[in-house]
Amino acid sequence: MDSILVKGGATLSGAIPIAGAKNACLTLMPATLLTDEPLTLTNAPRLSDIQTMTLLLQSLGAEVQALQDGKVLALSSHTIGDLHADYDIVRKMRASILVLGPMLARFGKAEVSLPGGCAIGARPVDLHLKGLEDLGAELELRDGYVHAEAPGGLKGAVVEFPFVSVGATENILMAATLAKGTTVLKNAAREPEIVDLAECLAKMGARIDGAGTDTITVEGVDSLGGATHPVVTDRIELGTYMLAPAICGGEVECLGGRIGLLSAFCEKLDEAGIAIEETKGGLKVARKNGRVGAVEVRTAPFPGFPTDLQAQMMALLCTASGESRLEETIFENRFMHAPELARMGADIDVHGGTATVRGVDRLKGAPVMATDLRASVSLILAGLAAEGETVVNRVYHLDRGYEQVEAKLGAVGALIERIPGA
Ligand code: EPZ
Repeated sequence: MDSILVKGGATLSGAIPIAGAKNACLTLMPATLLTDEPLTLTNAPRLSDIQTMTLLLQSLGAEVQALQDGKVLALSSHTIGDLHADYDIVRKMRASILVLGPMLARFGKAEVSLPGGCAIGARPVDLHLKGLEDLGAELELRDGYVHAEAPGGLKGAVVEFPFVSVGATENILMAATLAKGTTVLKNAAREPEIVDLAECLAKMGARIDGAGTDTITVEGVDSLGGATHPVVTDRIELGTYMLAPAICGGEVECLGGRIGLLSAFCEKLDEAGIAIEETKGGLKVARKNGRVGAVEVRTAPFPGFPTDLQAQMMALLCTASGESRLEETIFENRFMHAPELARMGADIDVHGGTATVRGVDRLKGAPVMATDLRASVSLILAGLAAEGETVVNRVYHLDRGYEQVEAKLGAVGALIERIPGA
């Protein structure tokens, strides 16, 4: 397994290109199952999770070609095989459940392994399943699989989510495009990835209103066509790299960034003493003056502070002046980076869903362990400013969601290299 070595103390300067959003691409790719015409995604990120989704779609009989070094994905579900999404692939990535709605909507049948939980929580899919039953699907859970049927096709309905779920909103939105009649999704997720999916589905002929609000209305159509669609900029990669100059000084321009993708996050950075300037090319980020200040963060569904940036924000607050508090409201176990940051000298107390961070002058490099995708990148960010060397192990977590992190940070002056694993 590879490791990443970071030597602390560099000041950053330059530009970092931000890739297409992993979490948009992972829901756009299954949309190919809704049509027998070609779907082409541009600005696709080159990540292991995208390869996993590619393998899953290919196992269903879809064609997926990675063109232009993986930045363009050409997908086609003209010929689909046995509608069986196997545990062996699904267990690797929870987003695999997103093939369920589209398969059911187009073919009236699907057999998808239940995803396991993951490091950050149990992460059930009950809202996905209930939403599909609301649309008339008959589901049976057997041998760890969801056996789903909709013999006469799905029928439009009102689907009210008891709490916001990004994935369930995506699954039901895709299924509803081919359901007979009108579907209304209530308490829907509002993330930019949902808006991006709706825009792509509309290009395919879907009739959708309200994407980006908590109520989405879909008029079902008989069939969908193909489309070409650019994957929206990755707001989580963007926020991650905005924190690099905030943590170790200097100035970095994040190309393709827009404040509207993460305004709650930008407000918190501003409050902590970070200057953010919108440029023609993206967002330029630098400290306003000297040490950053302590802040209170509470994660929430969009447009709130993203849970996927909580670990990275904690890395910044480890050396802020004063005591910060981070409240994690989305996942039940998303502070696994805290003990690893403590190995670097951070002063953090975790009680239930709240972490209290008392800022120290400087962290000290140490060997640390990546536990999940966002925790791993927070350790790299912490290493940028730490005294001495930090080695982050198990970086396969990192490669799920960040393209060539060492190349992107190295290009703006970070002292970082990948150490190939045994
Ligand atoms: C998406 O996961 C993202 N993944 C996650 O990003 C992100 O953290 C999450 O949304 C929240 O923004 C992708 O888009 C591929 P949810 P998802 O359904 O859809 C519970 C990353 O780092 N829940 O909004 O799985 C669930 O357990 C990843 O890129 C149910 O109880 O998240 C969680 O506590 C991590 N039943 C909460 O709701 C359900 O049926 C929010 O989950 C569905 C979810």
